[in-house]
Amino acid sequence: MFDAMHTPDNVLIVGGSSEIGVEIAKALAKRGSTKFVLAGRSFETMQRAANEISSANPAGATSVSVIYFDVLAENAVSELITSTTAELSTIDMTIFAIGTLGDQAQLETDLKAAQEILEANFSKLAPAIQGIANVMVTQGFGHIVVLSSVAGVRVRRSNYFYGSAKAGLDGFAMALNDAVIKEGVNVTVVRPGFVRTKMTAHLPAAPLSTTAAAVAKATLAATDKQRNSVYVPTAIGVVVNIYRLLPRFIARKVPF
Ligand SMILES: NC(=O)c1ccc[n+]([C@@H]2O[C@H](COP(=O)([O-])OP(=O)(O)OC[C@H]3O[C@@H](n4cnc5c(N)ncnc54)[C@H](OP(=O)(O)O)[C@@H]3O)[C@@H](O)[C@H]2O)c1
Repeated sequence: MFDAMHTPDNVLIVGGSSEIGVEIAKALAKRGSTKFVLAGRSFETMQRAANEISSANPAGATSVSVIYFDVLAENAVSELITSTTAELSTIDMTIFAIGTLGDQAQLETDLKAAQEILEANFSKLAPAIQGIANVMVTQGFGHIVVLSSVAGVRVRRSNYFYGSAKAGLDGFAMALNDAVIKEGVNVTVVRPGFVRTKMTAHLPAAPLSTTAAAVAKATLAATDKQRNSVYVPTAIGVVVNIYRLLPRFIARKVPF
């Protein structure tokens, strides 16, 4: 359930080792969320995150469970739902923080890797989101947060596998919102610009870059107001939407 400030009691983080996902969990624990499930591949990282989330709750009354989830695995979605519902009486809020950039140049020739990038960022992730939405529709309430990216607003030559997967995910999540809103379920799509996390550790910082903590803060400001989408920082939304409108022959010359 949610309190009057729209803080959920029970939270599922899919991509439980994601730096942004963990920052959102910590911010929720600080506000009073009490039960968390971290679903992901790296138990060591998730265990460390579980300790951080527990100590973020001022009352110290937080329980954090860790379950295995690889979005590419067979039966991943049904196992996610079974394991999560065994841990949480209701799934009040779910943060989908899975994402993998890949190496664009390699993906253009390694087509198996290219397929996996599309699957992890979109085509196998979307059914997981739908599965959790179905649970929330049955319980009659819930809030889903989907980490999209400005990379999906206008797909660029420099990362068109990742960008096109994010574009698909973003469109899916926005339309899912239309499908479930009348059933008491909200969907908020978060579109960060460049965030310094382990995903981007090998890259030079881009203009208007931000932090995982800032993304967490903006995400909760958006979920509190039950907004459909948010850009982080706000200014990057203005920039990418201008870029989106550029004729292709000009956009092609923009050096990023
Ligand atoms: N960092 C940025 O600049 C940026 C910008 C815009 C949007 N985003 C989005 O924000 C979200 C969180 O990213 P982040 O910055 O926090 O990066 P991160 O720390 O690298 O988190 C990415 C998460 O995705 C998980 N993941 C990747 N492939 C998976 C798979 N097959 N099955 C299960 N989990 C898988 C990773 O698990 P492992 O730890 O096991 O690899 C990790 O938990 C992602 O959706 C990302 O696309 C990030």
